[in-house]
Amino acid sequence: MDPKETLVLLAALLWMMISSETSQATHLPGCQDNCGGVSIPYPFGTSEGCYFNEYFQITCNTTVTPPIPYLRSSKIEVLNISLYGHMRILTSVGADCYSKSGARESTTGSFGVLQAFPFSNTRNKLFGIGCNTIAYIRGVDIRGQIYVTGCVSWCSNISSVTNGSCNGIGCCQIPIPENLLNYTATVGSVSNDTEIWESNPCGFSFLAEEDSFNFTIANLTNIKNTTRLPSSINWAIGNQTCEEAKKNLTGYACKANSYCYDSSNGRGYLCNCSAGYMGNPYLRCQDVDECEDPNLNKCLKKCQNTIGNYTCSCPKGYHGDGRKDGQGCSADQLLDVMIVVGVGTSVIVLVAVSGLLYFGHKKRKLIKLKEKYFQQNGGLMLQKRLAGREEPTSAAKIYTAEELEKATNNFDESNIIGRGGYGIVYKGIFADNTVAAIKKSRTIDNSQIEQFINEVVVLSQINHRNVVKLLGCCLETEVPLLVYECVSNGTLSSYIHDRNKAATFSWETRLRIAAETAGVLSYLHSAASMPIIHRDVKSNNILLDENHTAKVSDFGSSRLVPLDQAQISTMVQGTLGYLDPEYLLTSQLTEKSDVYSFGVVLVELLTGKRPVSFDGPEEERSLAMHFLSALKEDRLFQILEDCIAKEGNAEQVDKVARLGKTCLRVKGEERPTMKEVAMELERLRMLGKHPWTNVESNYEETEYLQVLGIKFSVRCSYRAEEDDLTFSCLD
Ligand SMILES: *[C@@H]1O[C@H](CO)[C@@H](O)[C@H](O)[C@H]1NC(C)=O
Ligand SMILES: *[C@@H]1O[C@H](CO)[C@@H](O)[C@H](O)[C@H]1NC(C)=O
Ligand SMILES: *[C@@H]1O[C@H](CO)[C@@H](O)[C@H](O)[C@H]1NC(C)=O
Ligand SMILES: *[C@@H]1O[C@H](CO)[C@@H](O)[C@H](O)[C@H]1NC(C)=O
Ligand SMILES: *[C@@H]1O[C@H](CO)[C@@H](O)[C@H](O)[C@H]1NC(C)=O
Ligand SMILES: *[C@@H]1O[C@H](CO)[C@@H](O)[C@H](O)[C@H]1NC(C)=O
Ligand SMILES: *[C@@H]1O[C@H](CO)[C@@H](O)[C@H](O)[C@H]1NC(C)=O
Ligand SMILES: *[C@@H]1O[C@H](CO)[C@@H](O)[C@H](O)[C@H]1NC(C)=O
Ligand SMILES: *[C@@H]1O[C@H](CO)[C@@H](O)[C@H](O)[C@H]1NC(C)=O
Ligand SMILES: *[C@@H]1O[C@H](CO)[C@@H](O)[C@H](O)[C@H]1NC(C)=O
Ligand SMILES: *[C@@H]1O[C@H](CO)[C@@H](O)[C@H](O)[C@H]1NC(C)=O
Ligand SMILES: *[C@@H]1O[C@H](CO)[C@@H](O)[C@H](O)[C@H]1NC(C)=O
Repeated sequence: MDPKETLVLLAALLWMMISSETSQATHLPGCQDNCGGVSIPYPFGTSEGCYFNEYFQITCNTTVTPPIPYLRSSKIEVLNISLYGHMRILTSVGADCYSKSGARESTTGSFGVLQAFPFSNTRNKLFGIGCNTIAYIRGVDIRGQIYVTGCVSWCSNISSVTNGSCNGIGCCQIPIPENLLNYTATVGSVSNDTEIWESNPCGFSFLAEEDSFNFTIANLTNIKNTTRLPSSINWAIGNQTCEEAKKNLTGYACKANSYCYDSSNGRGYLCNCSAGYMGNPYLRCQDVDECEDPNLNKCLKKCQNTIGNYTCSCPKGYHGDGRKDGQGCSADQLLDVMIVVGVGTSVIVLVAVSGLLYFGHKKRKLIKLKEKYFQQNGGLMLQKRLAGREEPTSAAKIYTAEELEKATNNFDESNIIGRGGYGIVYKGIFADNTVAAIKKSRTIDNSQIEQFINEVVVLSQINHRNVVKLLGCCLETEVPLLVYECVSNGTLSSYIHDRNKAATFSWETRLRIAAETAGVLSYLHSAASMPIIHRDVKSNNILLDENHTAKVSDFGSSRLVPLDQAQISTMVQGTLGYLDPEYLLTSQLTEKSDVYSFGVVLVELLTGKRPVSFDGPEEERSLAMHFLSALKEDRLFQILEDCIAKEGNAEQVDKVARLGKTCLRVKGEERPTMKEVAMELERLRMLGKHPWTNVESNYEETEYLQVLGIKFSVRCSYRAEEDDLTFSCLD
């Protein structure tokens, strides 16, 4: 090896050692990395050898404190350098001042002179300030072409000037072109009106970053000819495009694991680290350890960093790609086989093994117990139902009992976030800091197991932003557990029926929630691969996230309807007050039952009243009937929630009420479909605000009387649970 090569190799090795020590190096070793608090990343530098070429030289004047960085040897002060091709500098102001008699007292221009990098045409604007002002700019672009333009700012009466608006009254602004290198900004006046000079003796013109200058009335007088403002310039490497530069790698600035892109303003190119890497692309792009940051990796459990990427894997006994956005992890076939073969075989195996390894006995007993639970909890049923479907069940994950115990601090009381008819909901925090809601069934009887399995099957088919996402389940415990995404703001019911919350719950939000819920139901009825009837639509089953976005939940009693079947005969199930009377009488479940229940939710949103109340007069017991009779007697306005009556758009409210009425029709076939309801609600949301007009009444329908006539003639068992009345009727 030739000694020169050896030297180069040694230098390279040394450089690698140094740079791996200073892992986040943004500058060359031995070079000054900042001047007066302004960081100077390579390709910029302060001394020979520290910058890429002379255009990237920064002069740091250290005779002042704090030191001030200047661009090359100019008087241009540098404020900030970004690695993404921007640099902020300070530019001066052009001023033109007059005496009361109209004589010009002083005038200065503003000059911006750059050698290589142009002013940013996207971030900067030319501003003119004054009441009798023309701001001119004369510029030269990188090809030497001349450019001249200007804007006028005028105000005959100072009271017409408004803060924050730069529209030609007191302030004007115009964009600047690309490739602008040198400019002169000057100021002139429009008229010799001395009255204006008295209150506003000066006019100004300057180039500045649009975001760093907010015009206020005070600026007519508080700007001085010494004021300086930040403006932005676009830097890039050299004169060539990426394609040209790559031909000669000797001068090519982009280092390994980076890519090149052309500057959008001016000549030259820039570099950026490739995906999976970070750092200074002009020096070194380093691998990002995605596993360290839960926001960067999509692994459910095990994460292994690789150079430039990462891989996920599943724990022992599970298979799949282990990715949240992929197949996830599912239990190995082996487990199925063990369960199918049954306890008998496993006992023989267990005895044999525990004979050899006595100390393993206890653990195995636990495993066996878990298997028993798995079986008892419908694991087989679940696997069968999931296996019968075309699409892979990518979303749902099967959690281990330990994971959930750990996440909920052994199902500690303090982690309880809700109690419903069917179980308790705990808040769980997993090892990777994700938060989830864990639903634990209350007791184990077979009908509930089926509901539980149903929920898993139904939810794993749905992927909709307004549906609570099922993250997975655990079958190894005595009672089955479901793991959901955490929805932070509680139920819609708690918002509607809480005096304090209801008052701040605007009409707009209510309408949006109604439209979102209708959208989900419409999607369930029509768009999903097999139509789904929710069967238990109620305000208690609509959760709200931190933005008050609706998330429909509780698919425990949902039904999948094969496409060739429009209605199915079932045991009547639902919640008092929301239950479709036709379904109650005929036991024929159709998607129109959801339409009825949705109608009740709509009325709840409008009136703020509970679907059933036992404390009012008899005729107000059922909200649906009370609402229909109020509509008939044209008393809608009286039963509306106070805040809606006050702030709601009358036309919208009236139309929504009418829509609610059609949903509550006794005959299912006369009700609109959920799709029609969803479309109508979207349309109504688009309606602008109109003043309250007395809407003529044409509620001639008498259906509600029929509704009143229906008595609950079926045997019902009621169960009051918190403020959630759930009941199930037996045929
Ligand atoms: C420069 O800008 C970056 C973001 O663009 C910011 O993080 C940094 O603090 C700024 N530095 C100075 C000295 O203003
Ligand atoms: C540094 O700034 C001081 C004060 O502004 C000035 O007198 C001096 O000439 C500057 N030095 C350099 C090297 O520009
Ligand atoms: C910009 O101004 C500098 C200094 O006056 C001058 O050397 C350069 O040629 C000018 N650039 C253009 C494109 O006119
Ligand atoms: C300026 O406008 C205000 C209100 O718009 C008015 O009261 C005032 O008389 C006007 N002044 C002049 C000089 O027109
Ligand atoms: C304009 O803004 C300034 C502060 O930025 C404030 O003092 C002044 O009262 C505002 N004037 C009006 C009319 O809003
Ligand atoms: C304004 O008046 C001055 C002297 O009174 C005169 O020199 C100047 O040309 C006038 N300017 C305009 C724009 O009329
Ligand atoms: C200008 O106003 C916007 C919003 O009104 C604000 O975000 C920004 O910080 C303000 N900029 C300055 C320099 O005050
Ligand atoms: C404009 O006026 C505001 C006060 O209203 C002041 O904070 C700001 O610095 C002024 N802008 C300039 C460029 O002087
Ligand atoms: C700046 O304005 C002041 C008066 O406000 C004036 O005395 C001074 O000469 C002006 N400076 C320049 C450079 O024009
Ligand atoms: C552009 O190319 C010319 C000729 O090769 C060179 O003199 C000049 O320095 C280059 N400009 C930049 C900004 O690299
Ligand atoms: C490649 O660039 C180097 C320095 O930038 C220069 O010396 C050399 O002549 C160039 N080679 C070609 C083939 O252009
Ligand atoms: C990382 O790996 C995944 C899966 O193999 C692949 O889809 C993705 O494109 C890779 N990302 C990068 C930046 O190479």
